[in-house]
Amino acid sequence: PKFGPAFELETADAKGLDDLKLQAETCTRCDLYKNATQLVFGEGPRTADIVLVGEQPGDREDLAGKPFVGPAGRLLDQCLEEAGVDRSRCYVTNAVKHFKFEPRGKRRMHSKPNAGEIQRCAWWLGAELEILQPKLVVALGATALYSLLGPKVKVTAERGRVLQPANHPPVLVTIHPSYLLRIRDEEDANVNRANFVKDLTNATAFQ
Ligand code: URA
Repeated sequence: PKFGPAFELETADAKGLDDLKLQAETCTRCDLYKNATQLVFGEGPRTADIVLVGEQPGDREDLAGKPFVGPAGRLLDQCLEEAGVDRSRCYVTNAVKHFKFEPRGKRRMHSKPNAGEIQRCAWWLGAELEILQPKLVVALGATALYSLLGPKVKVTAERGRVLQPANHPPVLVTIHPSYLLRIRDEEDANVNRANFVKDLTNATAFQ
């Protein structure tokens, strides 16, 4: 505790992703661990060139303990395939690693992580990136982008672009696939989906 997170990162670094996940399983940096079923850590090959970063696990991910296995994950898989990005060669993770929700009857409704929760959890994402050293990080939506690059960079201004921040792997900015699932108008949804696929094609140069 005397040295804080940076000291812990050095030991985590040396032992790799499995060890980092073990450490994250006992994380109490914020309160989200209290109500979630389990930690949902990143998954994918150690040699991945591309890291995909979502917001936080949903209901299905919380129960499965795996990222992007629910409806948003299925849509993401389809769009990645259409864009020519091989998900099995990507490391997939989230900015926040525990499910945040509000109970509504028997259902658990997704609740947005706040700035403090994102900031505290950014330490784990930073540690994952330290180990993986990817060629590209894909920020899926505002929470991922905030965690990676802070409050000044906005999805609406940068989407579709690959940013090259100093001392950081390049970041491809795009929307979150859940956004597409919430669009009611079919034509609007199709246009937005096509734009999402177009954004993702910019990742193919890095794989
Ligand atoms: N949405 C996310 O951001 N991440 C998941 O793992 C699932 C849904």
